[in-house]
Amino acid sequence: MSVILVEGGRRLSGAVTVQGAKNSVLPILAATVLSGGVCCVKGCPDLSDVDTAAQIIRHLGGEVRREGAALVVDTRCISRCEIPEELMRRMRSSVMFLGAILGRCGEAVCSHPGGCELGPRPIDLHLHALRTLGAEIREENGRLLCRGGALRGAEIFLHIPSVGATENAMLAACAAEGTTIISNAAREPEIVELQDFLRAMGACVQGAGSATVVVEGRKKLHGCVHRVRPDRIVAATYLCAAAASGGCIYLRRADYRQMAAVLCVLRQSGCDIRSDGCGIRIKSDGCLRAVPPVRTSPYPGFPTDDQAIMMAALLRSRGSTVFVENLFSDRYRHVPQLRKLGAQIRTEGQTAIVTGAEKLHGAAVQATDLRGGAALVVAGLQAEGVTQVDRIEHIERGYADIVGDLSGLGARIYREE
Ligand code: EPZ
Repeated sequence: MSVILVEGGRRLSGAVTVQGAKNSVLPILAATVLSGGVCCVKGCPDLSDVDTAAQIIRHLGGEVRREGAALVVDTRCISRCEIPEELMRRMRSSVMFLGAILGRCGEAVCSHPGGCELGPRPIDLHLHALRTLGAEIREENGRLLCRGGALRGAEIFLHIPSVGATENAMLAACAAEGTTIISNAAREPEIVELQDFLRAMGACVQGAGSATVVVEGRKKLHGCVHRVRPDRIVAATYLCAAAASGGCIYLRRADYRQMAAVLCVLRQSGCDIRSDGCGIRIKSDGCLRAVPPVRTSPYPGFPTDDQAIMMAALLRSRGSTVFVENLFSDRYRHVPQLRKLGAQIRTEGQTAIVTGAEKLHGAAVQATDLRGGAALVVAGLQAEGVTQVDRIEHIERGYADIVGDLSGLGARIYREE
């Protein structure tokens, strides 16, 4: 078992390049199944979730190989339409293969996906979207048996703008006959990136980034080359680390246009933030102030994925900040861990109130989920003494090299086997 050790109290300085976005690359890897060709995904982060997606593609009969920072995926020889339960359980995004396999093979067999435990994470909207396109789906002994021989374009309304359901609907709709209109679609940047990738494969998709996505199906698709955009959540993590520790860092490739809500909160807390179009620079004296309530909501609102990280940044701020988590019912699992470092946080239902503590002290803590784990690292950077973060497999699902990146910025942080 590996752990991350953080010795707090160092200011951060220097520059780091932000990795490619996990939540972009996973639906893109599912989309390669539809291409029936060879796709080159450049700037693909080396993550355990990416590895799981590669294993799924290999299981289906495709070939995946890493060439430096790129993943080359050949899906010409896909011959299977079933995903083993063990691979499904490893991450939430395994469910994205459902729409893609259905579109490519006309049938698909899988089980319910795993992923971070943030409260109930049903897939009813995914199934609703696929059924609306004409798929027959039944559940037998925990396995989902899907037939979609003749998918037909349709009007799909999502009663929640689910990121994953929007992506699954887009994937299946590419292979459906006729026009699909997805209403109340998620507007996250990752949806726009999936649209770009699908278009590069020859698909006809429009409207991503708005609440209505329109897909014209049945076009023959082909392989393509795509460069994955920077990860806005990883960028936010490093900004929060610098905000809390103090110092000045530059994040190459970070895209301020996708991060307005987070940058606004960091500015309110007293940080100086500039973007030159190629990246973001943050300067902080490490003495943050409390900010107006932070309420998570779908894009372009404050991202739920940044909630724990921002909370960690404000643990020593002057005053109290209220957080309201509106997307997931159980996304405060990091709170008891943060309290071990001396954090003063009260939770009630979906609300958490953080009152700045004078100081934090190192302790042994456990990552409870991916972003909650990153929050423990951000907290450890400000704590006196050593913080030991356990269960770092959660963190490594989304951060290719959090230890290398932060130590490159001057933090005392190590990974120990
Ligand atoms: C994506 O998850 C991200 N994952 C999550 O990031 C992120 O937290 C989430 O979007 C919200 O932004 C990936 O992109 C791989 P949703 P997803 O469907 O697609 C409910 C991270 O740390 N819902 O938009 O699973 C659901 O319960 C991860 O990188 C249904 O009710 O999120 C939630 O309350 C964690 N039925 C809300 O919608 C459904 O069928 C939003 O979930 C689907 C979702």
